[in-house]
Amino acid sequence: MPKSKTAAFLLGLVLTSFAVSSQSRQKPEINYLQFCQGCHRADGSGSRSNDVPDLRGSVGNFLYLKEGRDFLVQVAGVAQAPISDVELAELMNWTLYKFGASEMPDLFVPYDAEEVRKLRMNRPTNTSIIRNNLVQKLMKMNKDISTE
Ligand code: HEC
Repeated sequence: MPKSKTAAFLLGLVLTSFAVSSQSRQKPEINYLQFCQGCHRADGSGSRSNDVPDLRGSVGNFLYLKEGRDFLVQVAGVAQAPISDVELAELMNWTLYKFGASEMPDLFVPYDAEEVRKLRMNRPTNTSIIRNNLVQKLMKMNKDISTE
């Protein structure tokens, strides 16, 4: 192969692998903008009139219960986001540190792809009932959850 062709071939290879890797793994802040912000807003404040809860100072409290930890990944907007398990795990960890850092447990074990995969696979549909039960339980533990 002539030198220029080899160079062009190698460049093509580099560009393709860059495109593939950036497609299969998008940064959490970009995924949030693309798939979450429409409802939850850039600052996590949500929308009272549309029943989208405020994540700020609230979302981290769910982590005090195992069912709460599961619930966070099983709400429709999260479980059904069109991104990979690895990306979703990263997005959840990012979301929690971004909006829930003040209240989350000191010993938070970050989500990983395997946990997210299992939770997405067995998603219950009655998440609003589950949420209400969690709110009751957490309130008894003096953990405040936003009710908007
Ligand atoms: C179509 C609007 C919508 C989109 C898009 C959406 N959500 Fe939600 N989200 C909601 C609503 C409404 C709830 C309340 C629970 C429920 O009714 O499912 C919620 C609940 C949550 C919760 C649980 C916190 C709580 O207090 O209930 C988390 C965490 C969350 N969303 C994160 C995300 C992330 C991360 C994304 C993007 C991947 C996302 N959501 C996309 C509307 C949305």
